[in-house]
Amino acid sequence: MKITIVGGTGYVGLNTAVGLASKGHLVFCVGRTREKVERISRGIPIIYEDRLDEMLKSVLKKEKFIPTTDLTGSVQKSDVIFICVGTPSRQDGSIDLTQVEETAKKIGKALIGRKEYCVVTVKSTVIPGTTEKLVIPTLERFSKKMAGKNFGVCMNPEFLREGHAVKDFLFPKDQGIVVGEFDRKSGDVLYEIYKDFDAKILRTDLRAAEMIKYARNSYLAKDVSFANEISNICQEIGVDYLDVKRGMEMDSRIGTGRFLSAGVGFGGSCFPKDVKALVAKAKEIGTKPKMLKATLEVNDAQPSKLIELTKQVVGQFRGKKIGVLGLAFKPGTDDLREAPAIKVINGFLLEGAEVFAYDPKALDNARKIFGNKIVYVSNAEQAITSADACVIVTEWPEFADPRLYSKMRSKIIIDGRRVLDPELLPAGFTYHAIGFPRSIET
Ligand code: UGA
Repeated sequence: MKITIVGGTGYVGLNTAVGLASKGHLVFCVGRTREKVERISRGIPIIYEDRLDEMLKSVLKKEKFIPTTDLTGSVQKSDVIFICVGTPSRQDGSIDLTQVEETAKKIGKALIGRKEYCVVTVKSTVIPGTTEKLVIPTLERFSKKMAGKNFGVCMNPEFLREGHAVKDFLFPKDQGIVVGEFDRKSGDVLYEIYKDFDAKILRTDLRAAEMIKYARNSYLAKDVSFANEISNICQEIGVDYLDVKRGMEMDSRIGTGRFLSAGVGFGGSCFPKDVKALVAKAKEIGTKPKMLKATLEVNDAQPSKLIELTKQVVGQFRGKKIGVLGLAFKPGTDDLREAPAIKVINGFLLEGAEVFAYDPKALDNARKIFGNKIVYVSNAEQAITSADACVIVTEWPEFADPRLYSKMRSKIIIDGRRVLDPELLPAGFTYHAIGFPRSIET
């Protein structure tokens, strides 16, 4: 099929575009910024994502993938058009649909002279009702055509995890595929794209597809906040949360692989934004979203737990050097959006600490946030060797290696993610962690 991805230089758009091209479709990857489109044309992804680099180069070589700024021309040639533009949070937490609306207008205009049927598919995360109330009327108004008659409409939420997006797209068995369809004909076209993927496909209506995305992310975010709340209680009453987590996971109704790792809280471009948007929608319709609000409240307070723990260990921050390991909101990405590291580091800086920060992938993005307020170092050892304490904020696998800490002067480690096994540390270290009520002297 011929497919256009609008928002193709963004995170979801680029991974989807490359994934579909690798499946043999001809993909027009439409971006707004010429510079980004040119970069992608040269095979350089805008974001760090495992395997994206090689996949991008491969689809470019096979001439299955056309980066372009020409939305109109691409839409006119395509059987399916995916809308993958951003839906950021407004001040009040509700989502800003400006880019979705703008895109629908442009697609609508591009459809004016078109005779062949095509399917416009919303992939951006949008609050339930958006495709019906905003996207379809906008497409119809600007194309002067009718949904269901001249063109089809689908809503196909994305379930890609940063750091695993390429794999998640190609092998969605664990996530499944949701096709929200305006009518059977629209859904049949999308089904054709996905039918050979090894995954269950749920066909439903547009609104349910939109809601499934919010329900899933809110559910997982709720688990993280639940874990953090239990972990905070454990810390106060002298219980190691890791044992509690292991004990919980033995119950098959809970099970392993759930989002029960406690730490500094969830971040990223999805959980915080999506839970806030659902809260805003629930309020708008007059319901009280108690669990969703509690999920956010627990999460907002979690970075301060790590700041407090660090203060208990090192005393006042003024004049202290703190080595921070990990800045990205989770391992496997260079993304700092809503990263707990931002709040943690700002807490240290506010009270006069000097911060030496290291992250394997996110240093460039961190510079855009902290400017010259912190010192960026190019390896983990440099961040911690002369620091008064090492604070682990993101659980990159390399931070689990006990040899990393051998040259530390202060030998004080505060683990915000339970990434390190203190039993493996050489003698002379003091280890503290979130959800761990004691300190361990090695
Ligand atoms: C999340 C969902 O997992 C994806 O399915 C979804 O497609 C994506 O949002 C999206 O809406 O686009 P992502 O934000 O990449 O994916 O990251 P997750 O792996 O879900 O982690 C989110 C946050 O929760 C991270 O900050 C992570 O550190 C934190 N987390 C996760 C915990 O603190 N504890 C856990 O046990 C699990």
